Amino acid sequence: MSSAAAPAPVGIIGGTGLTTLSGLEITGERDVQTPWGEPSSALVEGRLGDQPVIFLSRHGNPHRIPPHQVNYRANLWALEKAGVRTVVGVNAVGGIHPAMGPAHIVIPEQIIDYTWGRGSTFFEGELDGVTHIDFTFPYTESARAVVIGAARDLGLSFSDFGVYGATQGPRLETAAEIVRMERDGCDLVGMTGMPEAALAAELRLNYVCLGLVVNWAAGKSDHIITMDEIEAAIDQGMSGVKRILEESISGLGALSPQPA
Ligand code: HPA
Repeated sequence: MSSAAAPAPVGIIGGTGLTTLSGLEITGERDVQTPWGEPSSALVEGRLGDQPVIFLSRHGNPHRIPPHQVNYRANLWALEKAGVRTVVGVNAVGGIHPAMGPAHIVIPEQIIDYTWGRGSTFFEGELDGVTHIDFTFPYTESARAVVIGAARDLGLSFSDFGVYGATQGPRLETAAEIVRMERDGCDLVGMTGMPEAALAAELRLNYVCLGLVVNWAAGKSDHIITMDEIEAAIDQGMSGVKRILEESISGLGALSPQPA
């Protein structure tokens, strides 16, 4: 008698405000090593409803690794080796677009990368040839559709568009930098969207960003950005993010893997 293959786990990379995932029925926890070094945290294995999930805390648990020092390569490599074929990256972001104020949820569709000096490709070292992956659409459209459908079904206020500007950090931006980014076409600003999305693409993983706006970007409100404001927006908005994860997880688990 043959039994159906176990479904592939969905990877969730939690960012600021999502160091652990309540609601995850934890079945195991594994410290792993990769050829690229150690991931930010243990891989926490569990189930969200019936869907196997592997949760990884991007900044470590407790939160201690700044955005420019996250080992993005180890994180993505570890998830792929654990059998993950679809990854949701949860990111705290600043809002530039007028509709994207604190506690708003965004499922962006494009990226502009302003980061530098990060380990941003698996294609380096001793190689047989040079590889240039296509990155025209940095997020997987089928994964975006599942997450957008879940947000809509839940009746949450969210945006299904937007260009994510990935900055180096860890400092926040100047007001002039945000004006420039807006001119470039950015709707959101965050420090962790890249190289995560590109590395996922190199590994041929489905990848979608679930962004929670935690502050107006620099110069977009009448005050400077404070940690109190950021924490208040996380308190207000993270429950919606978790509800979207719960609602979308089985759909994400059912997505076809990217062709090899
Ligand atoms: N800028 C960059 N990254 C961020 C911000 C911001 O305003 N808010 C949360 N992450």
